[in-house]
Amino acid sequence: MNELVAQVFLFFIAGFETSSMTTSMTLFELSNNQKLQEKLRREILEVLKKHDNKITYDAVTEMKYLGQAIDETLRIWPSVQTLTRVCTKDYIFKNSDVTVDKGTPLMISVTGLHHDPEYWPDPDRWDPDRFSEENKQNRQLLTFLPFGDGPRNCIGLRFGLLQTKVALITTLTKYRVTLSPKTITPLGRDPATFALRPKNKIYLRFEKI
Ligand code: HEM
Repeated sequence: MNELVAQVFLFFIAGFETSSMTTSMTLFELSNNQKLQEKLRREILEVLKKHDNKITYDAVTEMKYLGQAIDETLRIWPSVQTLTRVCTKDYIFKNSDVTVDKGTPLMISVTGLHHDPEYWPDPDRWDPDRFSEENKQNRQLLTFLPFGDGPRNCIGLRFGLLQTKVALITTLTKYRVTLSPKTITPLGRDPATFALRPKNKIYLRFEKI
């Protein structure tokens, strides 16, 4: 019974909070970038038109810019901010005297990595073009880890992306989203949480199209 409860709890936290946070943060970034919001809405409407205005799996997959926008949100605002691992063999970092002993628990800062200007110039700028096919080819391996990596990476990666996409498609086809003056920016982030929580609340305005 304990195992069952633990699994259900994990699926609820891992499977719900992550996608809803990614949806919120994408809407926040789009409300700051009206031109890019319009570009994304145009893509969504054009693709839906080709698919009888139905949100099918094929239609969602065809929306390339939508995928780029979500990836860029997950870069700036990864919903899981740190990955945890235990070192399985003694390791010495190349060209340094830094060592990690077998058995050491490790925390990897995804937020830190995703904001490192060595890999992501001008890291605070939300720019979905960083994830164009061409730019993706030139990127260094393992510098983008919103779903972790290796045999214990996120089991719900595809489902998480799909439900985030459907939420954004449904919203953006019906509403133009702008930032309410009640939102205090920069939002900041709560450093004490494992799952992302912006310090300031996000207030958005939804205007029916
Ligand atoms: C945008 C959505 C999501 C994000 C950003 C996300 C992110 C992550 C990350 C970073 C990890 C840790 C991976 C690692 O340590 O290498 C993880 C693990 C996990 N995720 Fe997700 N996740 C998302 C959606 C989902 C969904 C929809 C489900 C289930 C329906 C899910 C279930 C899980 C489970 C069960 C684990 C633990 C896997 C294991 O320990 O083997 N996630 N997720």
